[in-house]
Amino acid sequence: MDIFETIRTRRSVRRFMDKPVEEDKLQAILEAVRQAPSWANLQCWRFIVVKDPAVKEKISEISYVESFFAPKGYKANPSKKGLAEAPVIIVACADPSQSGTIWGQSYYMTDMGIAAQNLMLAARALGLGTVFVGVFDEEKIHSMLAIPPNIRVVGLFPVGYPLEKKASGPARKPLNEIAFYEKWGA
Ligand SMILES: Cc1cc2nc3c(=O)[nH]c(=O)nc-3n(C[C@H](O)[C@H](O)[C@H](O)COP(=O)(O)O)c2cc1C
Repeated sequence: MDIFETIRTRRSVRRFMDKPVEEDKLQAILEAVRQAPSWANLQCWRFIVVKDPAVKEKISEISYVESFFAPKGYKANPSKKGLAEAPVIIVACADPSQSGTIWGQSYYMTDMGIAAQNLMLAARALGLGTVFVGVFDEEKIHSMLAIPPNIRVVGLFPVGYPLEKKASGPARKPLNEIAFYEKWGA
């Protein structure tokens, strides 16, 4: 599968088979993440691999938000079940002081986003599925995994063999709506 096919066919996978992820595949995913570009090559990321079923269950339980920040009509995280059933969860953390801020833009989330895409594409290329889960109780993850207070938890990635096969995903905006030549809107 070439890179364009990997990008085109990657989908968010939220249900997983009861089948372990081979350690060499897990290492290949982590290596893909390690190769990501970052602000001044500071590599602000740290990743925690969680396999303990009891911990995965607890993580699944706190993958929601109960606040006015939640989108209108929000009921539950569609990835809640998948977090418990995936054989592995990769918890993506960042040290914001190990990245840059310029013109009011903080780049640690950019660094993490790039690493996350490497993670998701590597999983896809290896026949595995994953999804970026951004909805969770960060404080509880901190205490559960002994994460220092200066470190932000940016995303959870359940990884496993997909239970669901998706031919296509949610539609994307047409190219002429998002890409311009020479000037904004042109
Ligand atoms: C930053 C970010 C946060 C996300 N958070 C969640 C989440 O909490 N739960 C979930 O089920 N999907 C989550 N997603 C997955 C998106 O819903 C999904 O990528 C989008 O609908 C497009 O579908 P596709 O990935 O299958 O192409 C998140 C994606 C991103 C990039």
